[in-house]
Amino acid sequence: MPEFITPRLRPFGTNIFTTMSRLAAQHDAVNLSQGFPDFDGPVFIKDAARDALYAHSNQYAPMPGVPALRRALAERFTRDTGLPCDADTMVTVTCGCTEALPATVLGLCEPGDEVIFFQPYFDIHKTSVILANCAPKVVTLRRPDASHPEFWFDEAELRGAFTPRTRAIVVNTPHNPTGKVFTRAELQQIADLCIRHNVTAITDEVYERLVYEPSRPHVSLASLPGMAERTVTLSSMGKTFSLTGWKIGWAIAPAPLTAAVRAAHQFMTFSIATPLQYAAAAAIEREQEALGPLRELLVNSRDLLNAALTRLGFRTEPAPSGYFILADYTPLLKAGEPADDTAFSRRLIERCRVAAIPASVFYHDAELGRPLLRFAFCKKADTIREAIRRLETISGA
Ligand SMILES: Cc1ncc(COP(=O)(O)O)c(C=O)c1O
Repeated sequence: MPEFITPRLRPFGTNIFTTMSRLAAQHDAVNLSQGFPDFDGPVFIKDAARDALYAHSNQYAPMPGVPALRRALAERFTRDTGLPCDADTMVTVTCGCTEALPATVLGLCEPGDEVIFFQPYFDIHKTSVILANCAPKVVTLRRPDASHPEFWFDEAELRGAFTPRTRAIVVNTPHNPTGKVFTRAELQQIADLCIRHNVTAITDEVYERLVYEPSRPHVSLASLPGMAERTVTLSSMGKTFSLTGWKIGWAIAPAPLTAAVRAAHQFMTFSIATPLQYAAAAAIEREQEALGPLRELLVNSRDLLNAALTRLGFRTEPAPSGYFILADYTPLLKAGEPADDTAFSRRLIERCRVAAIPASVFYHDAELGRPLLRFAFCKKADTIREAIRRLETISGA
Protein backbone atom coordinates (compact mmCIF):
# COMPACT_ATOMS: atom_id res chain seq x y z
CA MET A 1 0.00 0.00 0.00
CA PRO A 2 2.40 2.69 -1.16
CA GLU A 3 -0.10 5.57 -1.44
CA PHE A 4 0.95 7.21 1.82
CA ILE A 5 4.69 6.80 1.27
CA THR A 6 6.35 9.98 0.11
CA PRO A 7 7.25 9.68 -3.60
CA ARG A 8 10.88 10.19 -2.59
CA LEU A 9 10.96 6.87 -0.75
CA ARG A 10 8.47 4.90 -2.84
CA PRO A 11 11.08 3.51 -5.28
CA PHE A 12 12.94 1.81 -2.44
CA GLY A 13 10.06 -0.47 -1.41
CA THR A 14 10.86 -2.82 1.46
CA ASN A 15 14.57 -3.04 2.11
CA ILE A 16 16.09 -6.12 0.44
CA PHE A 17 17.55 -7.50 3.67
CA THR A 18 14.11 -7.69 5.25
CA THR A 19 12.68 -9.32 2.14
CA MET A 20 15.45 -11.91 1.75
CA SER A 21 15.59 -12.79 5.43
CA ARG A 22 11.82 -13.36 5.38
CA LEU A 23 12.07 -15.57 2.28
CA ALA A 24 15.00 -17.44 3.83
CA ALA A 25 12.92 -18.20 6.94
CA GLN A 26 9.94 -19.23 4.82
CA HIS A 27 12.04 -21.80 2.89
CA ASP A 28 14.20 -22.84 5.81
CA ALA A 29 17.18 -21.65 3.79
CA VAL A 30 20.76 -21.13 4.97
CA ASN A 31 20.74 -17.35 5.12
CA LEU A 32 23.80 -15.94 3.37
CA SER A 33 21.89 -12.79 2.45
CA GLN A 34 21.95 -10.26 5.28
CA GLY A 35 25.42 -9.59 6.70
CA PHE A 36 25.19 -10.69 10.30
CA PRO A 37 27.29 -13.34 12.05
CA ASP A 38 25.62 -16.54 13.25
CA PHE A 39 27.86 -16.42 16.31
CA ASP A 40 27.98 -13.99 19.19
CA GLY A 41 30.52 -11.35 20.14
CA PRO A 42 33.09 -12.07 22.89
CA VAL A 43 31.79 -13.09 26.32
CA PHE A 44 33.81 -10.37 28.08
CA ILE A 45 31.79 -7.71 26.26
CA LYS A 46 28.47 -9.30 27.16
CA ASP A 47 29.66 -9.51 30.77
CA ALA A 48 30.55 -5.82 30.64
CA ALA A 49 27.02 -5.05 29.39
CA ARG A 50 25.44 -7.08 32.17
CA ASP A 51 27.60 -5.35 34.78
CA ALA A 52 26.85 -1.93 33.29
CA LEU A 53 23.11 -2.51 33.75
CA TYR A 54 23.73 -2.50 37.50
CA ALA A 55 26.77 -0.24 37.84
CA HIS A 56 25.53 2.70 35.78
CA SER A 57 22.42 4.70 35.07
CA ASN A 58 19.71 3.20 32.92
CA GLN A 59 18.31 6.62 32.06
CA TYR A 60 19.01 8.73 28.99
CA ALA A 61 22.67 9.03 28.10
CA PRO A 62 24.07 12.47 27.26
CA MET A 63 23.13 13.37 23.67
CA PRO A 64 26.70 13.02 22.26
CA GLY A 65 27.36 9.75 24.14
CA VAL A 66 28.67 8.75 27.56
CA PRO A 67 32.09 10.32 28.29
CA ALA A 68 33.80 6.94 28.89
CA LEU A 69 32.93 5.75 25.39
CA ARG A 70 33.74 9.05 23.72
CA ARG A 71 37.15 9.01 25.42
CA ALA A 72 37.82 5.42 24.31
CA LEU A 73 36.81 6.33 20.74
CA ALA A 74 38.91 9.48 20.68
CA GLU A 75 42.02 7.58 21.85
CA ARG A 76 41.37 4.84 19.29
CA PHE A 77 41.00 7.39 16.50
CA THR A 78 44.32 9.00 17.48
CA ARG A 79 46.04 5.60 17.58
CA ASP A 80 44.69 4.78 14.12
CA THR A 81 45.22 8.07 12.33
CA GLY A 82 47.81 10.00 14.36
CA LEU A 83 45.33 12.87 14.51
CA PRO A 84 44.39 14.69 17.70
CA CYS A 85 40.81 14.01 18.79
CA ASP A 86 38.91 15.83 21.51
CA ALA A 87 36.33 13.53 23.07
CA ASP A 88 33.99 16.37 24.01
CA THR A 89 33.78 18.27 20.75
CA MET A 90 34.66 15.67 18.09
CA VAL A 91 32.92 12.39 18.95
CA THR A 92 29.21 11.61 18.70
CA VAL A 93 27.74 8.20 19.53
CA THR A 94 24.92 7.19 17.17
CA CYS A 95 22.51 4.31 16.66
CA GLY A 96 24.93 2.35 14.49
CA CYS A 97 26.52 3.72 11.39
CA THR A 98 22.98 3.47 10.02
CA GLU A 99 21.97 6.57 11.95
CA ALA A 100 25.32 8.32 11.59
CA LEU A 101 25.00 8.41 7.79
CA PRO A 102 21.67 10.27 7.48
CA ALA A 103 22.46 12.38 10.56
CA THR A 104 25.62 13.60 8.84
CA VAL A 105 23.98 14.26 5.48
CA LEU A 106 20.96 15.94 7.10
CA GLY A 107 23.17 18.02 9.36
CA LEU A 108 25.43 19.21 6.55
CA CYS A 109 23.41 19.50 3.38
CA GLU A 110 20.71 21.76 2.02
CA PRO A 111 17.98 20.31 -0.22
CA GLY A 112 19.30 20.34 -3.77
CA ASP A 113 22.97 20.02 -2.82
CA GLU A 114 24.79 17.31 -4.72
CA VAL A 115 26.28 14.39 -2.86
CA ILE A 116 28.64 11.96 -4.58
CA PHE A 117 28.76 8.27 -3.72
CA PHE A 118 29.99 5.12 -5.44
CA GLN A 119 27.96 2.27 -6.89
CA PRO A 120 27.59 -0.49 -5.89
CA TYR A 121 26.69 0.89 -2.46
CA PHE A 122 25.35 -0.05 0.90
CA ASP A 123 21.73 1.10 0.48
CA ILE A 124 21.84 3.77 3.18
CA HIS A 125 24.48 5.73 1.26
CA LYS A 126 21.84 6.46 -1.32
CA THR A 127 18.78 6.72 0.92
CA SER A 128 20.55 9.19 3.23
CA VAL A 129 21.00 11.49 0.24
CA ILE A 130 17.39 11.05 -0.85
CA LEU A 131 16.03 11.56 2.68
CA ALA A 132 17.87 14.89 2.82
CA ASN A 133 16.34 15.90 -0.53
CA CYS A 134 19.81 16.12 -2.05
CA ALA A 135 20.79 15.14 -5.57
CA PRO A 136 22.73 11.86 -5.94
CA LYS A 137 25.84 11.88 -8.13
CA VAL A 138 26.98 8.35 -8.71
CA VAL A 139 30.46 7.13 -9.64
CA THR A 140 30.87 3.50 -10.69
CA LEU A 141 33.26 1.06 -9.12
CA ARG A 142 33.97 -1.06 -12.16
CA ARG A 143 34.40 -4.81 -12.10
CA PRO A 144 37.89 -6.28 -12.21
CA ASP A 145 39.21 -6.98 -15.72
CA ALA A 146 42.45 -7.91 -17.44
CA SER A 147 44.15 -4.67 -16.43
CA HIS A 148 42.48 -4.19 -13.02
CA PRO A 149 42.68 -7.10 -10.57
CA GLU A 150 40.20 -5.41 -8.21
CA PHE A 151 37.18 -3.12 -8.39
CA TRP A 152 38.36 0.28 -9.59
CA PHE A 153 37.06 3.71 -10.58
CA ASP A 154 37.87 5.94 -13.49
CA GLU A 155 39.53 9.10 -12.20
CA ALA A 156 38.03 11.22 -14.99
CA GLU A 157 34.53 10.00 -14.08
CA LEU A 158 35.14 10.93 -10.46
CA ARG A 159 36.51 14.32 -11.43
CA GLY A 160 33.46 14.93 -13.61
CA ALA A 161 31.12 14.20 -10.70
CA PHE A 162 32.40 17.24 -8.76
CA THR A 163 30.48 20.42 -9.63
CA PRO A 164 29.97 23.79 -7.92
CA ARG A 165 26.87 22.24 -6.26
CA THR A 166 28.79 19.33 -4.69
CA ARG A 167 28.50 19.47 -0.90
CA ALA A 168 29.80 16.05 0.14
CA ILE A 169 31.17 12.70 -0.99
CA VAL A 170 30.48 9.40 0.76
CA VAL A 171 33.42 6.97 0.69
CA ASN A 172 32.99 3.46 2.04
CA THR A 173 36.27 1.68 2.66
CA PRO A 174 36.60 -1.26 3.20
CA HIS A 175 33.66 -1.51 0.86
CA ASN A 176 30.38 -3.38 0.95
CA PRO A 177 29.52 -5.28 -1.24
CA THR A 178 32.79 -5.52 -3.23
CA GLY A 179 35.28 -6.00 -0.36
CA LYS A 180 37.43 -3.35 -2.02
CA VAL A 181 39.96 -1.66 0.26
CA PHE A 182 40.66 1.74 -1.30
CA THR A 183 44.38 2.27 -1.84
CA ARG A 184 46.21 5.30 -0.52
CA ALA A 185 46.64 6.47 -4.12
CA GLU A 186 42.89 6.25 -4.78
CA LEU A 187 42.13 8.06 -1.54
CA GLN A 188 44.64 10.73 -2.51
CA GLN A 189 42.73 11.30 -5.77
CA ILE A 190 39.53 11.72 -3.77
CA ALA A 191 41.27 14.00 -1.26
CA ASP A 192 42.70 16.23 -4.00
CA LEU A 193 39.23 16.74 -5.46
CA CYS A 194 37.64 17.39 -2.05
CA ILE A 195 40.25 20.02 -1.29
CA ARG A 196 40.04 21.63 -4.73
CA HIS A 197 36.22 21.85 -4.58
CA ASN A 198 35.90 22.49 -0.84
CA VAL A 199 33.83 19.34 -0.35
CA THR A 200 33.24 17.42 2.90
CA ALA A 201 34.06 13.70 2.92
CA ILE A 202 31.83 11.32 4.85
CA THR A 203 33.58 7.99 5.30
CA ASP A 204 31.89 4.74 6.22
CA GLU A 205 34.57 2.54 7.79
CA VAL A 206 32.49 -0.12 9.55
CA TYR A 207 34.72 -2.91 8.14
CA GLU A 208 37.93 -1.07 9.17
CA ARG A 209 39.20 -4.01 11.25
CA LEU A 210 38.12 -6.78 8.88
CA VAL A 211 40.89 -6.56 6.29
CA TYR A 212 42.58 -9.80 5.34
CA GLU A 213 45.50 -8.84 3.10
CA PRO A 214 48.47 -7.39 5.03
CA SER A 215 49.65 -5.77 1.80
CA ARG A 216 46.42 -3.79 1.66
CA PRO A 217 45.91 -2.07 5.02
CA HIS A 218 42.88 0.09 5.69
CA VAL A 219 43.63 3.81 5.42
CA SER A 220 41.30 6.46 6.86
CA LEU A 221 40.70 9.30 4.42
CA ALA A 222 40.87 11.74 7.37
CA SER A 223 44.56 10.87 7.83
CA LEU A 224 45.57 12.26 4.41
CA PRO A 225 47.06 15.77 4.39
CA GLY A 226 44.39 18.45 4.31
CA MET A 227 41.55 16.02 5.00
CA ALA A 228 41.29 16.03 8.82
CA GLU A 229 39.43 19.33 8.78
CA ARG A 230 36.96 18.23 6.09
CA THR A 231 36.17 14.61 6.95
CA VAL A 232 33.44 13.03 9.06
CA THR A 233 34.67 9.52 9.91
CA LEU A 234 31.89 7.04 10.64
CA SER A 235 32.13 3.54 12.03
CA SER A 236 30.48 1.22 14.51
CA MET A 237 31.13 -1.75 16.73
CA GLY A 238 28.77 -4.15 14.94
CA LYS A 239 31.29 -5.79 12.60
CA THR A 240 34.46 -5.42 14.70
CA PHE A 241 32.91 -7.17 17.69
CA SER A 242 30.28 -9.36 15.97
CA LEU A 243 27.54 -7.48 17.81
CA THR A 244 25.49 -6.12 14.93
CA GLY A 245 22.36 -6.04 17.09
CA TRP A 246 23.81 -3.51 19.53
CA LYS A 247 23.69 -0.72 16.97
CA ILE A 248 26.40 1.38 18.57
CA GLY A 249 28.09 3.60 16.02
CA TRP A 250 29.86 6.94 15.97
CA ALA A 251 30.84 9.98 14.00
CA ILE A 252 34.25 11.59 14.53
CA ALA A 253 34.94 15.00 13.01
CA PRO A 254 36.37 18.43 13.85
CA ALA A 255 34.15 20.48 16.15
CA PRO A 256 32.32 22.52 13.43
CA LEU A 257 31.41 19.36 11.47
CA THR A 258 30.49 17.55 14.68
CA ALA A 259 28.12 20.40 15.52
CA ALA A 260 26.33 19.70 12.23
CA VAL A 261 26.09 15.95 12.92
CA ARG A 262 24.74 16.61 16.41
CA ALA A 263 22.25 19.16 15.11
CA ALA A 264 20.49 16.28 13.33
CA HIS A 265 21.32 13.44 15.75
CA GLN A 266 19.66 15.24 18.68
CA PHE A 267 16.33 15.12 16.83
CA MET A 268 16.71 11.60 15.42
CA THR A 269 17.55 9.33 18.34
CA PHE A 270 18.87 11.93 20.81
CA SER A 271 20.92 9.30 22.67
CA ILE A 272 21.86 5.62 22.59
CA ALA A 273 21.34 2.77 25.12
CA THR A 274 23.33 3.87 28.17
CA PRO A 275 24.58 0.50 29.53
CA LEU A 276 25.64 -0.69 26.08
CA GLN A 277 27.77 2.40 25.68
CA TYR A 278 29.73 1.50 28.82
CA ALA A 279 30.16 -2.04 27.51
CA ALA A 280 31.32 -0.63 24.17
CA ALA A 281 34.01 1.35 25.98
CA ALA A 282 35.19 -1.86 27.69
CA ALA A 283 35.17 -3.66 24.32
CA ILE A 284 37.34 -1.04 22.68
CA GLU A 285 39.91 -1.26 25.45
CA ARG A 286 40.41 -4.98 24.67
CA GLU A 287 39.79 -4.82 20.95
CA GLN A 288 42.81 -6.86 19.84
CA GLU A 289 41.66 -9.83 21.93
CA ALA A 290 38.46 -10.03 19.96
CA LEU A 291 39.97 -9.56 16.54
CA GLY A 292 42.50 -12.40 16.11
CA PRO A 293 40.03 -15.29 16.32
CA LEU A 294 37.39 -13.37 14.37
CA ARG A 295 39.63 -12.71 11.37
CA GLU A 296 40.73 -16.33 11.36
CA LEU A 297 37.14 -17.55 11.32
CA LEU A 298 36.13 -15.11 8.58
CA VAL A 299 39.07 -15.93 6.31
CA ASN A 300 38.40 -19.65 6.72
CA SER A 301 34.69 -19.24 5.90
CA ARG A 302 35.47 -16.96 2.96
CA ASP A 303 37.94 -19.44 1.50
CA LEU A 304 35.57 -22.41 1.95
CA LEU A 305 32.74 -20.58 0.24
CA ASN A 306 34.88 -19.09 -2.49
CA ALA A 307 36.38 -22.46 -3.42
CA ALA A 308 32.93 -24.09 -3.55
CA LEU A 309 31.34 -21.32 -5.62
CA THR A 310 34.23 -21.48 -8.09
CA ARG A 311 33.99 -25.27 -8.32
CA LEU A 312 30.25 -25.00 -8.99
CA GLY A 313 30.80 -22.64 -11.92
CA PHE A 314 30.31 -19.17 -10.38
CA ARG A 315 32.92 -16.53 -11.24
CA THR A 316 33.81 -14.93 -7.94
CA GLU A 317 35.42 -11.55 -7.39
CA PRO A 318 38.24 -11.15 -4.84
CA ALA A 319 37.05 -10.46 -1.27
CA PRO A 320 40.03 -8.89 0.53
CA SER A 321 37.91 -7.52 3.40
CA GLY A 322 34.52 -7.50 5.06
CA TYR A 323 31.72 -10.04 5.05
CA PHE A 324 30.86 -10.67 1.40
CA ILE A 325 31.73 -12.40 -1.87
CA LEU A 326 30.28 -11.09 -5.12
CA ALA A 327 29.74 -13.97 -7.52
CA ASP A 328 28.77 -13.93 -11.18
CA TYR A 329 26.20 -16.67 -11.70
CA THR A 330 25.75 -16.17 -15.46
CA PRO A 331 28.05 -19.08 -16.43
CA LEU A 332 25.39 -21.29 -14.81
CA LEU A 333 22.53 -20.05 -16.99
CA LYS A 334 21.13 -22.27 -19.69
CA ALA A 335 21.82 -21.15 -23.27
CA GLY A 336 19.70 -18.11 -24.12
CA GLU A 337 18.46 -17.62 -20.57
CA PRO A 338 18.52 -13.91 -19.65
CA ALA A 339 20.54 -12.73 -16.64
CA ASP A 340 18.07 -11.87 -13.87
CA ASP A 341 19.67 -11.75 -10.45
CA THR A 342 16.35 -11.53 -8.62
CA ALA A 343 15.00 -14.61 -10.40
CA PHE A 344 18.27 -16.49 -9.85
CA SER A 345 18.36 -15.69 -6.13
CA ARG A 346 14.74 -16.86 -5.81
CA ARG A 347 15.68 -20.07 -7.56
CA LEU A 348 18.55 -20.57 -5.12
CA ILE A 349 16.22 -20.11 -2.16
CA GLU A 350 13.39 -22.25 -3.48
CA ARG A 351 15.42 -25.08 -5.00
CA CYS A 352 18.72 -25.14 -3.07
CA ARG A 353 17.48 -23.46 0.12
CA VAL A 354 20.36 -20.97 0.21
CA ALA A 355 19.69 -17.22 0.36
CA ALA A 356 21.91 -14.60 -1.30
CA ILE A 357 21.23 -10.99 -2.32
CA PRO A 358 20.62 -10.02 -5.95
CA ALA A 359 23.33 -7.42 -6.54
CA SER A 360 21.26 -5.09 -8.75
CA VAL A 361 19.83 -3.60 -5.53
CA PHE A 362 23.28 -2.19 -4.78
CA TYR A 363 23.40 -0.25 -8.04
CA HIS A 364 21.89 3.05 -9.12
CA ASP A 365 22.05 1.57 -12.64
CA ALA A 366 20.51 -1.78 -11.76
CA GLU A 367 21.70 -3.43 -14.99
CA LEU A 368 25.31 -3.27 -13.79
CA GLY A 369 24.48 -5.62 -10.93
CA ARG A 370 22.30 -7.98 -12.95
CA PRO A 371 24.98 -10.71 -13.38
CA LEU A 372 25.94 -10.78 -9.70
CA LEU A 373 24.81 -12.22 -6.38
CA ARG A 374 26.21 -11.27 -2.98
CA PHE A 375 26.95 -14.10 -0.55
CA ALA A 376 27.71 -13.37 3.13
CA PHE A 377 30.51 -15.51 4.58
CA CYS A 378 30.33 -14.07 8.14
CA LYS A 379 29.12 -17.47 9.34
CA LYS A 380 30.55 -20.45 11.22
CA ALA A 381 32.35 -23.00 9.04
CA ASP A 382 29.54 -25.52 9.70
CA THR A 383 26.97 -23.09 8.32
CA ILE A 384 29.08 -22.49 5.23
CA ARG A 385 29.55 -26.25 4.76
CA GLU A 386 25.80 -26.78 4.96
CA ALA A 387 25.24 -24.02 2.40
CA ILE A 388 27.82 -25.67 0.13
CA ARG A 389 26.16 -29.08 0.52
CA ARG A 390 22.89 -27.52 -0.61
CA LEU A 391 24.48 -25.54 -3.43
CA GLU A 392 25.95 -28.78 -4.83
CA THR A 393 22.45 -29.53 -6.15
CA ILE A 394 22.49 -26.38 -8.27
CA SER A 395 23.11 -28.06 -11.61
CA GLY A 396 19.68 -29.73 -11.35
CA ALA A 397 18.03 -26.51 -10.13
C1 LIG B 1 28.97 -0.47 4.55
C2 LIG B 1 28.06 -0.50 5.71
N1 LIG B 1 27.80 0.64 6.37
C3 LIG B 1 26.99 0.67 7.44
C4 LIG B 1 26.36 -0.48 7.89
C5 LIG B 1 25.44 -0.38 9.05
O1 LIG B 1 26.17 -0.31 10.19
P1 LIG B 1 25.49 -0.44 11.64
O2 LIG B 1 25.13 -1.87 11.81
O3 LIG B 1 26.54 0.03 12.55
O4 LIG B 1 24.29 0.42 11.63
C6 LIG B 1 26.59 -1.68 7.24
C7 LIG B 1 25.91 -2.89 7.70
O5 LIG B 1 25.82 -3.88 7.03
C8 LIG B 1 27.46 -1.70 6.12
O6 LIG B 1 27.71 -2.82 5.47
